[in-house]
Amino acid sequence: MERAEGIYYWSQDGRRYIDAASGPVAVNLGHGNPAILKAIEEQARKVSFAFPLSFRSEAGIAFSDALLAAAGPRFQHVFVTSGGSEAVETCMKFARTYAVRKGESARRFFVSHDPSYHGATLGAMSLTGDCAMQELFGAIAPPAMKVPAPLSYRIPEGQTAEDHARHSLERLRASIEELGPENVLAFVMEPISGLSSGASAAPDFYYKGVREICSAYGVILIYDEVLTGAGRTGAFLASHHWPQSKPDLIALSKGISSGYLPLGAMLAPAEMVDLVARSGGFPHAQTYTNTPLACAAGAAILRAIEEEGLIANAETMGDLLRRRLLEIARNSPIIGDVRGRGLLLAIEIVADKRTKRMLPLNVNSPARIGQIAMEQGLVLYPRRTNGGKFGDWLMITPPLIIHASQVLDLAERLERTLNLYSDELVRDQLI
Ligand SMILES: Cc1ncc(COP(=O)(O)O)c(C=O)c1O
Repeated sequence: MERAEGIYYWSQDGRRYIDAASGPVAVNLGHGNPAILKAIEEQARKVSFAFPLSFRSEAGIAFSDALLAAAGPRFQHVFVTSGGSEAVETCMKFARTYAVRKGESARRFFVSHDPSYHGATLGAMSLTGDCAMQELFGAIAPPAMKVPAPLSYRIPEGQTAEDHARHSLERLRASIEELGPENVLAFVMEPISGLSSGASAAPDFYYKGVREICSAYGVILIYDEVLTGAGRTGAFLASHHWPQSKPDLIALSKGISSGYLPLGAMLAPAEMVDLVARSGGFPHAQTYTNTPLACAAGAAILRAIEEEGLIANAETMGDLLRRRLLEIARNSPIIGDVRGRGLLLAIEIVADKRTKRMLPLNVNSPARIGQIAMEQGLVLYPRRTNGGKFGDWLMITPPLIIHASQVLDLAERLERTLNLYSDELVRDQLI
């Protein structure tokens, strides 16, 4: 790709593509926004780097203030990182520091979902529920205790999504008991699943249930909103959809910098930060912690999200896109499920809609659909994780600036792509 602007990319040969995925679900604001480029340039001329252990920066303060204002009254402090995995690991280390300083130094185990995705670095990967990753890297990053993610589609036969979510809550409680409640540090979850299983939300009662279990055992509840944050789901934080979820810490990245510069953040409440600050501080920093340049981009992005009404747009355009996807699914033999919230949407590809049977793994449907989509001027994010254990699906997550005619254009190209692919499958006698 040679150039990108708004929801479009242009390749070197002059062809235009719709970015239907926002890169890896990151470019919430769309590409090439002049206000962001100007903010970055101005900051670079003023001071592009000032090490946070020596200085505070105006850009850092502006970014933190804007983030806290958007996140709402639960959080009073921000720790700025340079990406999502680092934001998750900052939460892990901060949780441990808090527990030790509180006199609970036995607390050291994490519990997380299977499947899930929390990042590529060793600590974040130990939380990630992905058996293929564990097989390769488990020996150097021992996996956290896993409980079943409250998925809505690929769940054990005979169960409803509600049954499965109740089972997940039971497993969370049982896992904490098994590890010994005094040893369990934190439960880490994505409020709506992202790259491990595609935009799957739990039934409402699940969020309250998790909070109750964590509170009962003194376990810190960490929400990984790296992908769901910054307006993607039609609220600034996905946790805003469930006021009773009340996470203790939140990891953010992706949408808060929308791909312009590497940036991530941990949100923490005053009560936890004050205790840590009083008892020796948080021994954690990196060269690119809180860099003024990335913070200036972040502050400008948060301003644009608010001024351009992108959270409301994510909700209305998400509803329109979802309705179109459901129509496409009704007429397609290979779309087993349409799910998600706001502009965090996904469709699941199957060989048989009734039984949810997948296409053979060696057919590699995500990769082939991605290729056909490119020929149709559409950039998708086709996914398969866990060696295919949780299905094949496509993330449909365009930038939040998308408007109605672009949604319809995207949907039309997607429909053509899927029709061409199902024709191929019929030809090859695979459906
Ligand atoms: C939920 C979630 N957490 C963490 C990460 C890791 O972020 P990064 O790739 O910026 O390290 C990702 C990335 O896709 C993610 O989706």
